[in-house]
Amino acid sequence: MPGCQVDANTIRPIRFFNGKCQMLDQRLLPAEEVWLDYNDYQGVAEAIRSMVVRGAPAIGVAAAIGAWFGARDIETESSEEFFAAFEKICDVLAATRPTAVNLFWALERMKSFARANLDRSVLELKIGLEYEALAITQEDEQLCIKLGRQGEGLIPDGARVLTHCNAGALATGGYGTALGVIRAAVAAGKKVAVIADETRPFLQGSRLTAWELQKDQIPVTLICDNMAGYLMSKGEIDCVIVGADRIAANGDVANKIGTYTVAVLAREHQIPFYVAAPISTIDLSLADGSLIPIEERDAREITHLKDVQLAPEGIAIRNPAFDVTPHRLVTAIITERGVAQGDYQARLAELVNA
Ligand code: MRU
Repeated sequence: MPGCQVDANTIRPIRFFNGKCQMLDQRLLPAEEVWLDYNDYQGVAEAIRSMVVRGAPAIGVAAAIGAWFGARDIETESSEEFFAAFEKICDVLAATRPTAVNLFWALERMKSFARANLDRSVLELKIGLEYEALAITQEDEQLCIKLGRQGEGLIPDGARVLTHCNAGALATGGYGTALGVIRAAVAAGKKVAVIADETRPFLQGSRLTAWELQKDQIPVTLICDNMAGYLMSKGEIDCVIVGADRIAANGDVANKIGTYTVAVLAREHQIPFYVAAPISTIDLSLADGSLIPIEERDAREITHLKDVQLAPEGIAIRNPAFDVTPHRLVTAIITERGVAQGDYQARLAELVNA
């Protein structure tokens, strides 16, 4: 059955075993499938910054692996000195991208492990940190599978589901969040057709979502971002499901730029708007979405497509990479621990602390 297996053919953007790391260069998809080797934290930091690896959970996984590379190469016998150097390495990885909280979550988990084990030898700390990075990598795919099962009941048989950006296997340790829910619905025997927004300017929808769904034989139709409203007005979309980069305590959702527009359109057309994200994406330290840092990316992503110039020289550009959808536009937030609906403030806190 398409979409349901997690086997040797399953798409995973990061390979990490025997202390070696490879990442699928997502900048080159779908034209080329190139795996790049990584062996130090500086290289991993650059991979995150330049979007070789992207998507909130996948960035967290990559950061954990990068932190371990950094830890492995620290030369000291003193645990205190080791921890001071390790914190500096984590700071470099944390400075790569500001919006997806999974990055900071994963680094904090690595630091917490080291902090709690400072009475151990440096060698033991290094071994423990490798194990922790491996655990973060493997857990991510498993929790996406759980999240998919939590959410698949919301997708009716025969549904035409719009998604924005890529919240799939490529954006996680494997399986995906929003696309994980779709995969779980397909695995449950439902017929599901996906409509993928192309997602300007980085084209995660056309290059990545379309690629991975096609590979998994899940029906997918690609549209330009500005076509979603027309399709909704024609009754051609039954629900929307997207991922998230950070969810504030009140349920406001930061996700790829254009998500807010889709949510407003969905409300106008009375179409359910679902968000699928792991617990590690929820940031209870921020009261609402206005406090979420929004990354501004290079103007060249808008003015050029590879080397082709699309806009006049010297034109003023804004390129916010994310926007915030207010919780009132969100029908439900699906996590691996359950679904939040209605009073997000209370329910998200309950899920996080479960
Ligand atoms: O800039 P990107 O490609 O890292 O942005 C990715 C998104 O916005 C995804 O929708 C989000 O990280 C959820 S991934 C499961």
